[in-house]
Amino acid sequence: MTTIGELVRQHTETSKEETAHLVSLVGEWGMLADLCFSDLVMVVPSGPEWVVVAQVRAATGQTLYVDDRVGTPLTDDEASFAAEAFHTSAIVEGDIEVPGAAEDCGLMAIPVVLSGVTVGVLVREWSRRKGRQPGELERTYLQLFDRFAEMIVAGMFPFKGRVSDASVAPRVGDGAIVLDASCRIRYASPNATSALHRVGIRAPAVGQSLAELGVIDSSVRQAFERREPVVEEFEQTSEVTLLTRCIPILGDLDGDLGVTGAVMLLRDVSELRRRDRMILSRDATIREIHHRVKNNLQTISSLLRLQGRRLQSEEARAAVAESVRRIRTIALVHETLSREAGDEVAFIEVVRPLLRLVEEGLQSPDRPIRFTVVGDGGRLDATVVTPLSVVLTELLQNAIDHGFPEGSGGGDVVVTLGSTEAGLAIRVVDNGRGIPADFDLGSAKGLGLSIVRTLVTTELDGTIDMRPARTKDLTEVGLTAVNGHPGTVIELSVPLAGE
Ligand SMILES: Nc1ncnc2c1ncn2[C@@H]1O[C@H](COP(=O)(O)OP(=O)(O)OP(=O)(O)O)[C@@H](O)[C@H]1O
Ligand SMILES: [Mg+2]
Repeated sequence: MTTIGELVRQHTETSKEETAHLVSLVGEWGMLADLCFSDLVMVVPSGPEWVVVAQVRAATGQTLYVDDRVGTPLTDDEASFAAEAFHTSAIVEGDIEVPGAAEDCGLMAIPVVLSGVTVGVLVREWSRRKGRQPGELERTYLQLFDRFAEMIVAGMFPFKGRVSDASVAPRVGDGAIVLDASCRIRYASPNATSALHRVGIRAPAVGQSLAELGVIDSSVRQAFERREPVVEEFEQTSEVTLLTRCIPILGDLDGDLGVTGAVMLLRDVSELRRRDRMILSRDATIREIHHRVKNNLQTISSLLRLQGRRLQSEEARAAVAESVRRIRTIALVHETLSREAGDEVAFIEVVRPLLRLVEEGLQSPDRPIRFTVVGDGGRLDATVVTPLSVVLTELLQNAIDHGFPEGSGGGDVVVTLGSTEAGLAIRVVDNGRGIPADFDLGSAKGLGLSIVRTLVTTELDGTIDMRPARTKDLTEVGLTAVNGHPGTVIELSVPLAGE
């Protein structure tokens, strides 16, 4: 999709600043469309034509245009109004015919001005069909729209600089309160009145100030002082959280430029925040559980270690030591999960300490083995990370045990974490002794590879392949063969859900 900035650049030679002005007006215009119950399009001149660079429909009214107009030119009728507004830098109004609309339609072309230069035209179009008598809400909103239109022509809207983000702000339909120059309420929409009722304010709002009604009004005071929109969320009562955005209206105040009023949009976000809090506490609980699992696993591995020390048989001691190592790997994953919010963890956060763990187990200094990780594997679901970590530990341990046995002189192990369309692609490459000639992964009897096979095929639903390394496999990861040993490559592929 082409953005408004790109479209403007394609069709005109406006400066960066001017384009930014148009973009920021478009960022604010949801409110404008809602206030005037109309379709709005932003147009810029392109040769003899006027091209639509952005379009918005009102959430408060019906649209005249079902189709997307972005990138298309205005009709000749529309274009003449746009051209007049552009060249005179004044608002122009007239009637147009809209294809498909039975009734007469109104058009208002508002020049968008920045530092005295007109940079585009905001075109408002609406049906003139007389429906029911317009009520106070319609009249108030249209008056407000006219004041914002004047600000656009005067180069005062959208606001410059560090302006609070409009995207999270309430919309007009959520509830609107109109304030006059002295901060008194001139009008409160039905939804705004309902929100006030919910916080226990039943007194008639009109004529009062927010402070008199007992509404927290710091956003209004700031908006008046700083002359720019202010977003604020506050707990009006222990039950009710209100999100507000106050937009000051600038204009002539006793001969000077001043704040002549403001609109405060407000939304009751209590339910939303309650849910946020629940999710937060759910996250905290999950983290606590991981923490406890880690503690329990550490206790188990300590007990085993103690027991292992009392054993006489070398074989039994080695077996227990292996188990201790495997349990520590799982504990490590839980430790990482206990620090992360949510159900996902950055895989690299587990892999790094895991490598450290394997390195610690390598006590003999006669075998210098260098471990390297390439890539990071992204963020993975906790249910994938635990089995994957166990698998990786076994593979690394095998590289140490069999690739570089005692007296072999050491070498390198490179772990590559990559992703493919199918999911995660992990490679473990070593330049050690290599697998025996008759080796077959499918029938390998050792416990280590049995664990690996089971986890990969049943828990992870993936595939694994193990073969002697080719020169290409080694050079790809920056390794060279040592003492004519072939080295080993293990390739793991794990599909990831939801991709
Ligand atoms: N990186 C490697 N380099 C060379 N040979 C390997 C490598 N990885 C595995 N092997 C071979 O595969 C065999 C089976 O490995 P497996 O991990 O299943 O058992 P193990 O390491 O012998 O015992 P354990 O149960 O303690 O892991 C090893 O004995 C070895 O011959
Ligand atoms: Mg092994």
